[in-house]
Amino acid sequence: MGARDTDRTILSVDNVSVDFGGLRALNRCSFEVSKGEIYSIIGPNGAGKSTLFNVVSGIHRPAEGRVLFRGRRVDGLRPSRISRMGMARSFQNLELFSGMTALENVLAGGHRHLGYGFFRGLVFDPGVRREERRAREEARGLLAFLGVEGYANSPVDDLPYGVQKKVEIARALATGPGVLLLDEPAAGLNDRETGELMDTIHRIRDERGVTLLLVEHNMRFVMGLSDRVCVLSFGRILAEGGPERVRADPAVVEAYLGETAC
Ligand SMILES: Nc1ncnc2c1ncn2[C@@H]1O[C@H](COP(=O)(O)OP(=O)(O)OP(=O)(O)O)[C@@H](O)[C@H]1O
Ligand SMILES: [Mg+2]
Repeated sequence: MGARDTDRTILSVDNVSVDFGGLRALNRCSFEVSKGEIYSIIGPNGAGKSTLFNVVSGIHRPAEGRVLFRGRRVDGLRPSRISRMGMARSFQNLELFSGMTALENVLAGGHRHLGYGFFRGLVFDPGVRREERRAREEARGLLAFLGVEGYANSPVDDLPYGVQKKVEIARALATGPGVLLLDEPAAGLNDRETGELMDTIHRIRDERGVTLLLVEHNMRFVMGLSDRVCVLSFGRILAEGGPERVRADPAVVEAYLGETAC
């Protein structure tokens, strides 16, 4: 690989394996994601896709191999540290803060930007008020970006599932990430919502300059959106490349035999 390619790489997964007791959930996986790419990971249930997200975002430690984010090793670092470095994610099962409004959820995502400590927050300080106001404006702006600003003051628990998913993406964006990992963002969405989400993901990349790493089962979504696709099966990378090439790969067709998804 030339120097130019290295400059463009924002995330490297290098020979990564993850073990759960006797189960090898990921086996020597390597790939690189370039800045500004929409890179998708597909594969049958249990292939290791969420595990890959968990190792990249610091929830699991690899048994071997390295993860580099913007050229710095992040495997072994805490998820909160990796998040502060500019990596955000959503979860396969929504993990919004129950009992809080949509706006409060997004504000909670962005709190690292509020540069005040506990004691400074106790005293009246116009600087703090200003920062708070700015944070609220930013959070509202993110809800508007996702097209759900009308729900800002609704408790998240009461919102339709499709709206909750958008709030979760807004919350992830509130950290100001360079890379955003979305685990099955289209799951449970209808066709119209799925189309809207594809448009949103393009805008996240084009207007906010965020690199996207997606796990998704919906093939129309993956093939219509991704610059490159990586296929996992039983913890191994079977194929990687442009959507058309990957779809035609005999090993991929074989891995998906019997699956309705492809
Ligand atoms: N925390 C864990 N402890 C033990 N085993 C786990 C753990 N997380 C995942 N596994 C196992 O690792 C394998 C990969 O799981 P993973 O959740 O990464 O699959 P996936 O590709 O995301 O599947 P799905 O499409 O169903 O979400 C599975 O066999 C799963 O049971
Ligand atoms: Mg999963």
